[in-house]
Amino acid sequence: MSEQNLFKVTIDNITIDVPAGTTILQAARKIGGQVAPPAMCYYSKLEGSGGKCRTCLVEVSKGSEKDPRPMPKLVASCRTTVMDGMEVKNITSDKVIDARASVVEFLLINHPLDCPICDQAGECHLQDLSFDHGKAGTRFEFQKRTFKKHDLGKNIQLHMTRCILCYRCVFTADQLTQKRVHGILDRGDHAEIATHIEKSLDNEFIGNVIDVCPVGALTDKTFRFKNRVWFLKPMDAHRDCPTCSGRVTLWNRGDEVYRVTARKDEWGEIEDTPDGKPGWICNTCRFDTKNANDWVIEGPRAINRQSVIAQGHYQGTVGMTKPQETFGAINDGRTPHLLMDIHDESEVNKNEDYISKNNIENA
Ligand code: SF4
Ligand code: FES
Repeated sequence: MSEQNLFKVTIDNITIDVPAGTTILQAARKIGGQVAPPAMCYYSKLEGSGGKCRTCLVEVSKGSEKDPRPMPKLVASCRTTVMDGMEVKNITSDKVIDARASVVEFLLINHPLDCPICDQAGECHLQDLSFDHGKAGTRFEFQKRTFKKHDLGKNIQLHMTRCILCYRCVFTADQLTQKRVHGILDRGDHAEIATHIEKSLDNEFIGNVIDVCPVGALTDKTFRFKNRVWFLKPMDAHRDCPTCSGRVTLWNRGDEVYRVTARKDEWGEIEDTPDGKPGWICNTCRFDTKNANDWVIEGPRAINRQSVIAQGHYQGTVGMTKPQETFGAINDGRTPHLLMDIHDESEVNKNEDYISKNNIENA
């Protein structure tokens, strides 16, 4: 791309050159880290996605070099393209932080707080968003919405109460399968995901709706309630699949494969294959190939997102780096056990002498 087609954009005081036509969100993702706004409905691999959830709002404090006026309202960064000389505030804007907290509050109005029993817990974008921007309490005094149950077939479980109507699954079915049989029925506060007449979602690529769903509204029935993601070890693996790329992440505990998903990048989106195409996987790989011997294991999967899977124990790379033990280093190699044996030190439960000496009453 020639020099003229590059636009200079500054986001949170970091300047970057991006090709004309790039959205603010994509430019921010190039910078990376916290500068990238959260995105619950935008999905770069799905055409037409974005513009639904408002979690990616940013403040444009300077429109462009030619017209430096700020934009009057916060804008959806996934749908707004950069202009040359544009200046954007994301985490440096109080207005944005405030608006994001309101968006989280709005998304949680009807969302049940069932993280303890939800299969998405630990890798849920709404959970992360609430953790970063949510409030401890709620101002909502009405009953949350309830829904008639819809059976989507043997592989995919729908929990409509958790859905945030992001449309990602609809775009996935539209763009990956021959015939979409589910969609969003009705409008406004009556809108819901359903099939028009009870139908199972059984196209060979429909399992990908599970991976794109940012919350636990669409989950894998073959994994349901079997384990928590933070107890599993994600491993990159592949197999020679006649239908899809065959490049997956296996979620193992011991030798047992509990779940198979597509590989995801740091934004929680499907990773590209080496030939630059999105690595969607077929239902056979996802639901029916759960024998470890069917796969060639490549190694532990690096987890970058700030979810509980990556927290604390693995320093961002599951299974590869042990946390550094600092206790021994500052105590000449002695472990806590050698420093103090609690049974030697504690006077509790000793003898009557101790009880009377310390004026303790027998209960
Ligand atoms: S089911 Fe999931 S992917 Fe589909 S619209 Fe609801 S939240 Fe989005
Ligand atoms: S990610 Fe931009 S509006 Fe949802």
